[in-house]
Amino acid sequence: MGETTRSAGDVSDGTDATSPGDASDGTDATDGAETGVAPPDPGGLPVLGNVHELARDALGFYERRAAEHGGVVRYDVFGTESYLVTDPDAIASILVEDHDRFVKGEMPRERLGGLLGDGLFLAEGEAWREQRTAMRSAFFRERVAAYGDAMVEHARRTAASWDDGDVVDVHGAATDYAFAVLAESLLGSDVERERDTVRAAAESVTERFDTGRIASFLPAWLPLPTNRRYRRRLGALRETVRDLVAERRAAGPPADPGAADDLLGTLVAAAELGAIDDDQLVDNAVTFLFAGHETSALGLTYTLYCLARRPEFQERVHAEVSALDADPTPADVRECPALTAAVDEALRLYPPVHSFFREPTEPVTLGGYRVPAGVVLTLSPWAVHRDERWWDDPETYRPERWLREVGGGEAASDGRDSDEADATETVRGDEGAGPAVGDRPEYAYFPFGGGPRHCIGMRFARQELRLATATLLRRLRFEPVTTELSLRASANTRPTHPVRLRVHAREGRDAAARRGDGWRSVGRKVGRADHGDGGTDHGNGGADRDARNGARPSSARN
Ligand code: HEM
Repeated sequence: MGETTRSAGDVSDGTDATSPGDASDGTDATDGAETGVAPPDPGGLPVLGNVHELARDALGFYERRAAEHGGVVRYDVFGTESYLVTDPDAIASILVEDHDRFVKGEMPRERLGGLLGDGLFLAEGEAWREQRTAMRSAFFRERVAAYGDAMVEHARRTAASWDDGDVVDVHGAATDYAFAVLAESLLGSDVERERDTVRAAAESVTERFDTGRIASFLPAWLPLPTNRRYRRRLGALRETVRDLVAERRAAGPPADPGAADDLLGTLVAAAELGAIDDDQLVDNAVTFLFAGHETSALGLTYTLYCLARRPEFQERVHAEVSALDADPTPADVRECPALTAAVDEALRLYPPVHSFFREPTEPVTLGGYRVPAGVVLTLSPWAVHRDERWWDDPETYRPERWLREVGGGEAASDGRDSDEADATETVRGDEGAGPAVGDRPEYAYFPFGGGPRHCIGMRFARQELRLATATLLRRLRFEPVTTELSLRASANTRPTHPVRLRVHAREGRDAAARRGDGWRSVGRKVGRADHGDGGTDHGNGGADRDARNGARPSSARN
């Protein structure tokens, strides 16, 4: 993988001239405290620090730093002291064991505060705890299952918008899909009325945070046309939410957050309980809309892309989902191990959130090193998911690693869904340790973060990804047109170019089901097969990372 490849020796060694001897272990929190050893500091340019390397290829930078200098290593951004943390035990201590010694800090607030305000994503301390407690019940399994119909219905519409042989921009279509699902889950039946306002705000937010545009690096208050449009449309969205809240209140709000029919109802109920005020209510509506749709869209894009590159595994998933009598329910997809493995492996290889941040409120010891208070800690699922110490052949999409054979050749998978593991029901296909979990630390896989602040939408997203993939695969077969992904570390792990796949209608019952709905406005077509958009995408676009999924076709076949 060119500049981003690292050798196994680099990774497993993990020692460094300045390492405290047991740095590769990372579990002994006392050593560093006694010795006060600072993490490795390979240095950067004066003033700029490592900004140039991050701007050129942040994903490659994280991978190289981790490989060359171990699980806790310093870097600098315009004088801000930062540490990349890729040691799974240190990550567990930050997110779980010692979570109360860390805050999200200034970094995410500076970038996202204007959009997400004091909603759940950015709130700290007691304010965060109250909100999270009030909203928890809206994400219990039975509540999330109620959104299953919308997840399937919008996938049906997407499939119906494509014809046999079309070349489709799967990222564009997945974005439309995930947005439609989230808008409906948030607003329920009110979504029809407010679709235009919500969609316009979403477009402006995407434009504002697209790091491919210079304007996204400039402050939102500068009087640029994109900024003015962004402020106006976001203002309109917030106003719409306020109006809807007033209507819901007038109609009598749900008795408790878990009893609401949609997420806005949850928020209104939480406000009635006093857990959030009206500004936080609106902040949270915006938070759900934007924390939840781009990430899910990326997860779906990468799942479909990876399956297109692994035709025989795609057939295995198809066999599983076409054995169902009708389009899947949430309970059905929890019983589909190959489908679950296909999604979980895509989230490993291409985690939609490539990294996120914490700030220690006091000096702490991580991986045996002493780290001061107030610095930026970068936790990177991207780098950890590609670490050869934990993953064989980490750059290859291999969903089989999530499957274990149980009696009679039946496969079960472990989706590492801690919420679901907590649930009292036992669901085959979604629980039980497979080899992907076996001999590696828990935080070698954390696409949804971890600990008390793990993604509240995790169950929603995993259900959505499985229902959408299953509904599409019952009707369609995907074939790669894009054969090389070029990725950019924007707020999320985004493709720099359209991800093109060719769709083929499935024969028989599935094809009839595909024709069953003529709704055609959501899909994004790139061209018909006979128009011949048969070429591949452009390669690495200069500043962008060139990430290949199983760059050698043979290695992608296990
Ligand atoms: C594949 C899809 C998704 C991925 C990969 C993802 C990933 C993440 C990650 C890594 C975090 C932790 C960030 C941190 O600790 O700093 C997080 C938090 C969060 N996510 Fe997601 N997410 C996804 C889907 C969703 C959905 C569908 C929703 C809403 C319905 C959502 C809402 C949130 C919220 C509100 C938080 C903040 C939780 C808190 O701080 O208590 N996410 N997500």
